[in-house]
Amino acid sequence: MSDHHQVKMTTMNYDKDRPKAENPLKVMDLSLRDGHQSLFATRGRTEDMIPVAGLMDEVGFWAVEVWGGATFDTMHRFLNEDPWERIRTLKRYFKKTPLSMLLRGQNLVGYRNYADDVAKAFVERAIENGMDVFRTFDALNDFRNFETVVSVIKKYDKHFQGTICYSLTEPRLGGEVYNVEYYVNKARELEDMGADTICIKDMAGLAAPYDIFDVIRALKETVKAPIHFHSHFTAGLAPMSHLKAVEAGVDIIDTCLSPYAYRTSHPAVEPLVMALLGTNRDTGIDINKLVEIRDILERDVMPKYRRFLNEPTMSLIDINVLLHQTPGGMLSNLFNQLKEMDALDKLGDVYKELPRVRKDLGSIPLVTPTSQIVGVQTVNNVLFDKDGERYTRITDQVKDLCFGLYGKTTKPINPEVQKKALAGYPRGETPFTGRPAEILEPELEKAREEIGDLAVDMDDLLIYALYPVTGKKFLKWKYGLEEPPESVRAISLEQAKQLERLAAKARTGQVVEKTDKHEIPEKSETFRKFHVFVDNEYFEVGVDESGDSPVISYIQQAAARLGAAPAQPAAVPAAAQTPVAAAPAEPVSVTRPAASQTKEEEKTAPAAPAPAAQDTDGTPLLAPMPGMIVKYTKNVGDEVAEGETVVILEAMKMENALPSPASGKIKSINFGSGDSVPKDAVLCVIG
Ligand code: CO
Repeated sequence: MSDHHQVKMTTMNYDKDRPKAENPLKVMDLSLRDGHQSLFATRGRTEDMIPVAGLMDEVGFWAVEVWGGATFDTMHRFLNEDPWERIRTLKRYFKKTPLSMLLRGQNLVGYRNYADDVAKAFVERAIENGMDVFRTFDALNDFRNFETVVSVIKKYDKHFQGTICYSLTEPRLGGEVYNVEYYVNKARELEDMGADTICIKDMAGLAAPYDIFDVIRALKETVKAPIHFHSHFTAGLAPMSHLKAVEAGVDIIDTCLSPYAYRTSHPAVEPLVMALLGTNRDTGIDINKLVEIRDILERDVMPKYRRFLNEPTMSLIDINVLLHQTPGGMLSNLFNQLKEMDALDKLGDVYKELPRVRKDLGSIPLVTPTSQIVGVQTVNNVLFDKDGERYTRITDQVKDLCFGLYGKTTKPINPEVQKKALAGYPRGETPFTGRPAEILEPELEKAREEIGDLAVDMDDLLIYALYPVTGKKFLKWKYGLEEPPESVRAISLEQAKQLERLAAKARTGQVVEKTDKHEIPEKSETFRKFHVFVDNEYFEVGVDESGDSPVISYIQQAAARLGAAPAQPAAVPAAAQTPVAAAPAEPVSVTRPAASQTKEEEKTAPAAPAPAAQDTDGTPLLAPMPGMIVKYTKNVGDEVAEGETVVILEAMKMENALPSPASGKIKSINFGSGDSVPKDAVLCVIG
């Protein structure tokens, strides 16, 4: 074995003599995208990035990842921020450092394949607004889904980072699906497409140190493009894997500034800088600059986000990921789904069924959106299959996957499952094997007609084209046609600190801010409601700013316990939506075990109360889980057959077509597009 990648000391006197390393390791910082996406449900606000952006620009990062992934969705939906504006703002501070984004291939920053005209316009606008590096991936590692976006990236001479999702079917690298050869072949494909760099994206933190050593060494021997390694700390392997990747000759590593590091996020940059100091791979990064940034973040920014951290266990790592080779977020989605269906006792069966479903569906990597697709089908099989018959309820997404609408699976799909899934499938019963977007009709013109003058420019139009329901709502806020709800407003540092103190008190079992009704002062204009999560319990707190620091007006403990999802307003019981001033606070128990928090569970707006089924004559269609109404496919008075789709409900990042429970006429429709609904809400009545 050649030793040219060996890491060796070149100097012993770091302070006075720190010569530039022979082959310095390059570092990309993820704090402003994957960092807060992993730890704080992607709730990072632009205003909280500005205090450190200029200093970060001085560090000498290879690039900073600041956009893409879930940011586009959460910004317009939960933060009332224009996603495009963030690129332009950060670009003013990052004068030297390239800006990087995570692009989900033809899925862009959404959860389905968009038509080519949308994909082209999206990448053009991202470039025009200031994006430099495009980390491009596809959930199936089917690079035909890169073709359209890459042609635009190349046309404008921007950086195309070809990405391979790291996946396993065994506890460690190897077996017949995901072995060294698989990654080498994929890297060759990317190089042929003109990738400027090649990234191994270990989104679940599964890469073991000696495995990643083998993969990276093989890639360095095969392709010329620099190799970039992205991993998550989730299971605790990543810092070890980083070091082995460096020893194997990796060119670029992803880290976060320490306040955004560890847990389900990434290893911190500071220890990596120290570990390589004085070696031939020395990063050259000044640790003092990192400390300066850390101090500002800890003082002025992190107190606003600590409330999103759920720390129900002592350990910072999630070993379930190692046991089941599935992303942590997916496990907790499964947990939530079962919980909502009162079927938590089936969790063991789900763990057993999951690898079987994944194998049937072609041993695909598990990453958004395939992790949701495999997860939901697994739960369906466990709950509804009986008498030896499998796949009795196949989701629309699995049908699309079987048809070829997502692309080519790693291994062929089980032919029996495929046949069953495609029986009566609207696009035909013979699977399509071409590039998925080839069969998608252009979407932009239709979107333009639908949204009309509300979309002032192409950036607006794309927000609507990508997210028709929430995008339209955002544009109404943006142009003052609708008042944005309180929940999308930013929180001040003072308010955050006040909430922190309250949570600390709650943890010790003494919530002291009990108030009597007659003591409640008048609510002022600055009055705000907050959701506070202490372990698994939920409080609604009213805070008023009077004078120097906010005053807590009332605390109300939710009647029900939350499950695995802190900061998930969708799970908030309807009763807690209306603040009852002076509701007595109860002591808080801190011993209740909770499932892990994850970034994967995305949030919907607070649920509207479920109207009671007024019409007892008909059969109600109940929401099987909390979610947001995308649309009704029927109107009042329409005839429907049992099993025909009536409502599209978005939940768990997926659109669920809900079938009519009976044949008859639609007697009433109780919600509208964009409404959030709790579980068991009566969506409509058929009679
Ligand atoms: Co990641």
